[in-house]
Amino acid sequence: MKGLILSGGKGTRLRPLTYTSAKQLVPVANKPVLFYGIEALAAAGIREIGIVVGDTQAEIRAAVGDGSAWGVTVTYIEQDAPRGLAHAVLISERFIDGEPFVMYLGDNLLNKGITRFTEEFMRERPAAQILLAHVPDPQMFGVAELSDGRVVRLIEKPKEPKSDLALVGVYMFSAAVFESVKRIKPSFRDELEITDAIQDLIDRGLEVRPHIVDGWWKDTGKLEDMLEANRLILDTIERDIQGCVDAESRVEGKVIIQKGAVVERSVVRGPVIIGAGARIVHAYVGPFTSIATGAEIRDSEIEHSIVLEGSVISDLANRVEDSLIGKNVRIYRLPVKPSAYRFMLGDNSEVGIRW
Ligand code: DAU
Repeated sequence: MKGLILSGGKGTRLRPLTYTSAKQLVPVANKPVLFYGIEALAAAGIREIGIVVGDTQAEIRAAVGDGSAWGVTVTYIEQDAPRGLAHAVLISERFIDGEPFVMYLGDNLLNKGITRFTEEFMRERPAAQILLAHVPDPQMFGVAELSDGRVVRLIEKPKEPKSDLALVGVYMFSAAVFESVKRIKPSFRDELEITDAIQDLIDRGLEVRPHIVDGWWKDTGKLEDMLEANRLILDTIERDIQGCVDAESRVEGKVIIQKGAVVERSVVRGPVIIGAGARIVHAYVGPFTSIATGAEIRDSEIEHSIVLEGSVISDLANRVEDSLIGKNVRIYRLPVKPSAYRFMLGDNSEVGIRW
């Protein structure tokens, strides 16, 4: 069985971060989302993985390399534009070479892995196996309608969903899917939809097995989803203090402080991860916060947030919450009067000020 990870696309809902960075490389608990997918495939015993890449391919190649870090071999498959998930399958036909495969969307996170699903798929050999999850906002996803446990209809982002069962971004296919991706036409959003290709398998009378996932699943396409994914992953960490914590600091609960990180005169209340070389000085880092390598929190408070590499937050009067701060950002209080805000923000930035 082979693996196919989709890591192209534009990531418009995570701008401005995705102007400069692939959305699949935004870290959750200090690890790029994409790496969780690679780990899930490797844990399922898959050794050959194709990664579909687009405009951000240089960054993805640099982060993933040849896959040897996970004991897999990675083949990059270039997609000229985000023409849809089924288009990504279409251009991967040579790589898949007639084998059954798992397609994994590079921005999805699934907490219990995929091994039991791949095992069942290889045992039963249906044309396709799909994973479904109950969601409060099904119109944002591909939606499945079931009858007596069988899939009867799949619709991509329906205006009036017939159920609350969303298609999770992990699919298992036999080579029969290639005929279907060649038969379908572009959708309302001008993409070749994998949802339509799976519907075509059903229309051809082939078996599409559904599975409702019981653990959590997250599509990390939006800020709120990133923060929630960060919360869910941080909830599972074990305490591990490798960095330097001075005698005046308190580190409570499930906290990872990586080598070379420094905590001085601060309170860190887990679950929290603080990356290598980060500095927390006279600060409060509260639950569900990930501070990346080389970032600095000084004379400030932060909670339920993600701070990426090299960013500095200093001397703020109010606590930072529910925030995703990109790389090398500086947020600080100006030492001089009059008191006023001074911003230099990229396009599509968002600043929320609470009184
Ligand atoms: O997350 C689950 C949902 O994923 C499903 O419920 C939907 O049925 C499915 O269509 C998909 O919807 P999204 O609109 O969220 O897909 P998105 O455009 O975010 O793309 C998913 C991943 O695939 C993302 O990592 C980017 C990558 N991609 C996307 C397109 C359109 C590609 O590599 N190439 C592409 O052409």
